[in-house]
Amino acid sequence: MTRLVWFNGRLVDAGEAVVSVSTHALHYGTAVFEGIRAYWTVKQRPAIFRLREHVKRFFVSARIYRIEIPFTEDEIAEACKAVVRENGLKDAYIRPIAYIATTELGIKARDRRAGVAVLAKEWGKYLGEAYEKGARVTVSPWRRLPSFSFPTTAKASGHYINSFLAAMDAHEKGFDEAILLDHRGFVSEGTGENLFIVKDGVAYTPPIQASILPGITRDTIMTLLGDMGVEVVEKDITLGELLSADEAFFTGTAAEVTPVVEVDNVKIGDGKPGPLTRKLQKLYSDVVRGKIEKYEGWLEYV
Ligand SMILES: Cc1ncc(COP(=O)(O)O)c(C=O)c1O
Repeated sequence: MTRLVWFNGRLVDAGEAVVSVSTHALHYGTAVFEGIRAYWTVKQRPAIFRLREHVKRFFVSARIYRIEIPFTEDEIAEACKAVVRENGLKDAYIRPIAYIATTELGIKARDRRAGVAVLAKEWGKYLGEAYEKGARVTVSPWRRLPSFSFPTTAKASGHYINSFLAAMDAHEKGFDEAILLDHRGFVSEGTGENLFIVKDGVAYTPPIQASILPGITRDTIMTLLGDMGVEVVEKDITLGELLSADEAFFTGTAAEVTPVVEVDNVKIGDGKPGPLTRKLQKLYSDVVRGKIEKYEGWLEYV
């Protein structure tokens, strides 16, 4: 992490941005967070990609869990810019988090006021070499949590215990990442990424009902595909459809566009990143760096 952290309304040294071991969120997972990226752009300034959409999702997640954020959306957006600017970052990963701060034990928090922090760090490729070579993934033995148990459209800390199990399992088995199925057995998503497949020139991605987090990168890619004239269909995807796809790729703020080239040692297509995946990788990278005027509206300069 960088030196300065925005903590409850002001920039402080990272060492001062600490919480008590009695904090409700630490015990019960009652926090919501975001993952946002800033990129160094062609204007020689960093810009945060789709900042407003991330901040909006942050507040929606908090509202669902009735976590009371004592700041406005504008104040959180400003905090995101401040941690990039004041830490002198060019390319950055930004992590706002709002957590139930009461130190009174007991699940039913009477006081749901949030502590809020915004951290930033420099971060390279989330899935490392897989960005270039393509990810080798395994289907997790852990299923995605059904949306009748958890509001899967919220980005809440507690939900990630499921991703953690799947990611650890994949890592211990020597894979780059896991794909989780939903409770019905349809393909859902990665531990921190959405998934697309390509078959006969059409792109498919699982729908909200498949317990996905509706990713902002997923939305970006759907728009870019539409603008490229490629049909995108949201539909339930079986494991067989995934294995017989011509191409597959993950999308996410952290993972950006990462090809998936193998699922449990079965090659997807010819086992190499596909042509549409490569095209989208390049296009996404150009968009976030402000190289394409048409999509400038998604950038908020720091
Ligand atoms: C479980 C999960 N799915 C999908 C995504 C992708 O979402 P986004 O593109 O908004 O980063 C993320 C990352 O936030 C995630 O954690």
